[in-house]
Amino acid sequence: MKRPVFLITAGPTREAIDPVRYLSNHSSGKMGYELARAALKKGSVILISGPTSLTPPKGVIFIPVISALDMYKEVMKNYRKADVIIKVAAVADYRPVTVSKQKIKKTKNVLTIKLVKNPDILMELGHKKRKNQILVGFAAETNKPLDYAQKKLKQKKCDFVVVNDVSRKDIGFGSDQNQVVLLSRSGSKLSLGKQSKYALASKIISLVTVKS
Ligand code: CTP
Repeated sequence: MKRPVFLITAGPTREAIDPVRYLSNHSSGKMGYELARAALKKGSVILISGPTSLTPPKGVIFIPVISALDMYKEVMKNYRKADVIIKVAAVADYRPVTVSKQKIKKTKNVLTIKLVKNPDILMELGHKKRKNQILVGFAAETNKPLDYAQKKLKQKKCDFVVVNDVSRKDIGFGSDQNQVVLLSRSGSKLSLGKQSKYALASKIISLVTVKS
């Protein structure tokens, strides 16, 4: 593949509850930004990122977003340009049904917030992608990681799924190191041992672009 275009999504999303509060998760964005840095060595990169404290690597086309719906819109606008799509973002699965216009006051002892499912961006890409586009998903799991990741690979029609065991404190969320297993559609299973997120990112980029 000559100078592929990568589309990478990274970071968490934030789902507004009212003007001062939101629902989110522990994603730091580090793995996604390191993948963007590594991908720049091979081609051009569009980085669509939820809010993080990181500086986007120089040279990427950077599209900042806040919520899952924002990310969905930007991915759908841009995915056709990409040869390789890597979805590292920890997209919030649900958002509040309504966003209060005013700050919610603490008048109740028990407050219930109704949530509705966000679109599954990866799943939709799996169904829409061109034959020669490579789709890489991530699976953040706390138990039976390989079983759940295999299911995601099939259901979301990915070419690869990177399995992340997020129950471990020494790797994953916020850490500079990670350890993953790379599953492929063709049935291969490759363990990539504990190493810096950049070293891991470089290996993932090489492995997912090798045949194209
Ligand atoms: N993903 C997505 N859109 C969502 C939810 C997840 O694109 N609304 C993508 C993530 O970017 C990741 C993959 O799907 O590449 C798997 O995300 P994960 O949080 O591990 O799993 P879910 O599909 O959300 O399923 P569950 O939370 O039940 O494990």
